[in-house]
Amino acid sequence: MDVIIKKNYEEICNEAVRIIHESWEKKKNLVLGLATGRTPIGVYQRLIELNKKGEMDFSRIITFNLDEYLGLDESHPQSFACYMDKNLFQYVNIKRENIFRLKGKPEDIEKHCQEYEEKIRAVGGIDLQLLGVGRNGHIGFNEPGSSLSSRTRPKALTQSTVEANASLFKNKERVPRYCLTMGIGTILDAKQILLLASGKEKFYAIKGCVEGPITASVPASALQLHPQAKIIVDEEAAWFLDRKDYYKWVYENRLKF
Ligand code: F6R
Repeated sequence: MDVIIKKNYEEICNEAVRIIHESWEKKKNLVLGLATGRTPIGVYQRLIELNKKGEMDFSRIITFNLDEYLGLDESHPQSFACYMDKNLFQYVNIKRENIFRLKGKPEDIEKHCQEYEEKIRAVGGIDLQLLGVGRNGHIGFNEPGSSLSSRTRPKALTQSTVEANASLFKNKERVPRYCLTMGIGTILDAKQILLLASGKEKFYAIKGCVEGPITASVPASALQLHPQAKIIVDEEAAWFLDRKDYYKWVYENRLKF
C-alpha cells in the first residue's frame, strides 16, 4: 500500500488524475471503476478538462460504478446514475454502451448483481478503481461488518451513512436505507486502486485503513491486502497516522529506488 500525503484537496485530485491519465496512456480501453460522493468531484472536473483539451479520449474507456441506492430510478436527481451524468459523463466523449452501473430498481436483484460481476469479468476486470471512504471506513457501500470477500449484493446502510448523505436529499426521511454495492472482494480484484480522502472527518477511517488491523470493522483496511493500492490523502485526513513522516519520505524518494 502506498500512502501519498498531499497538502490539500486540490493536490490529491491532481495526483489522482495524473495516475489515471498515465494508466490511460498505457491502455486506451482502460476499464475504470468509479465512485460517487463529494470526494471525486474534483477528479471528474479535471478529467473533463483533459477531455476538452484533447488530452484524454474517452471513446474506448469502459466504466463500472461502485454502487447505487435501491429504490431510486436512474432519473432520480439523487441516484448515482444521475450524479455520474451530471458530474462526468455528459461532458466527455464516453460511449453510452461502455457505461455500466447498478440499477436502483432491478427486476431480480440477485440476477442483476451476478450479471454485473460477469460483465466486469467479460471485459477483463477493472484496471483502476477509484474510491472514496466513509467516515466509518466503508468503501463502496460495504459498511463495517461486511465480509472481506463479499461480491456485488444488496446492503443495508448504517444510520451514520444515511445521516452523512441526508444533506443531499430534500427530506431526510426519503434517504434510501438500502443499496446495491460491489463487494470488498470485487473491489480487491481491481488491478489498481486509488482511495482518496480529504478533511478531518476522514482521519479515523484513514488511520484504520492504513495502520489498523485488517478487519471487517473497517472495510477500507482490506486494501492492505492489495498489491497496487494507493491511498491519497490530504494533511487533515492523514492527521492521525503514526508513520506520516515515513510515508512522505518514501514518496519523495520514490524515483531514487
Ligand atoms: C460512493 C461510495 C462511498 C463514498 C463515501 C465517501 O460511490 O461508494 O463509499 O465514497 O461514502 O463519500 P464522500 O466522498 O461524499 O465523503
